[in-house]
Amino acid sequence: MATIAVLSQKGGTGKTTAVRTLTDILRRIDLRVLAVDLDPQGNLSDYLDVDPDATPTIADVLAGRAKPAEAVHGGIIPANLGLAEAELMLGGKMGRELTLKKALRELKQDYDVVLIDCPPALGLLTVNALVAAEYALLSAEAQYFSLQGVEQALEVIDLARDSLNPDLQWLGVVLNIADMRTRHSREAFDSLRQHFGEKLLDTTIRASIAYAESAERAVSILDYRPDLASDYLSVADELLRRLGMDQARGRLSSLANGSRPSV
Ligand SMILES: Nc1ncnc2c1ncn2[C@@H]1O[C@H](COP(=O)(O)OP(=O)(O)OP(=O)(O)O)[C@@H](O)[C@H]1O
Ligand SMILES: [Mg+2]
Repeated sequence: MATIAVLSQKGGTGKTTAVRTLTDILRRIDLRVLAVDLDPQGNLSDYLDVDPDATPTIADVLAGRAKPAEAVHGGIIPANLGLAEAELMLGGKMGRELTLKKALRELKQDYDVVLIDCPPALGLLTVNALVAAEYALLSAEAQYFSLQGVEQALEVIDLARDSLNPDLQWLGVVLNIADMRTRHSREAFDSLRQHFGEKLLDTTIRASIAYAESAERAVSILDYRPDLASDYLSVADELLRRLGMDQARGRLSSLANGSRPSV
């Protein structure tokens, strides 16, 4: 069992797309995956096609109004704008950083992997994710400033580790939405490699409009553009290796080699 928080200091680095796509891939290799939308924007809930009126949501769970199991809709705990209010309420409570951890504790035995999609801010919701998780995965957009963003996110990871979650591990950082034909992206990759060594995933996720198109059409990138989705298959392989999930890696390589993913 692995709980992974996907975060970044900045907005729009491809976190939600990563959670969506990794959820999809890991399910195709028969892992039981719970996706948790921890962003009031509710993008992950949209991407995974949850009915916008579905209740209860993660906000109800954090507010103590619903049992975690009741908030799982087709393998995802959705979010909507109500989560912004729940975050404010949470701020005034004892144990406010521990709320998500306690909620997920009840569910963990039913899943192999829990993926938490964080909002684009290093606030209380992201701290809750980092306290609930065993692993943190950083997404960095291929920009000159990505190094700085990763460092800020790492400080928050250290904070969570030093205070509330000593077991938290940094799973890695992935350079996302990259165009390695440009010097700009290559420089971002090189500086991340220099500073973070093997924590930087070898795989970068190529930039393509196909991600927005596939989200709009509610089609997985695996089916929409299998040629591009190979980036995420390689990322999944690197992550499973780091997690020591070798059997799952074996199934992943059959998915990648054997078949174009079925429609
Ligand atoms: N590899 C990619 N190439 C090009 N566009 C991408 C890629 N991945 C995601 N996008 C697009 O970039 C936008 C932001 O992606 P996404 O919502 O996944 O980022 P995010 O980090 O979750 O954003 P936020 O910080 O607002 O939650 C979306 O329109 C998405 O379709
Ligand atoms: Mg997002």
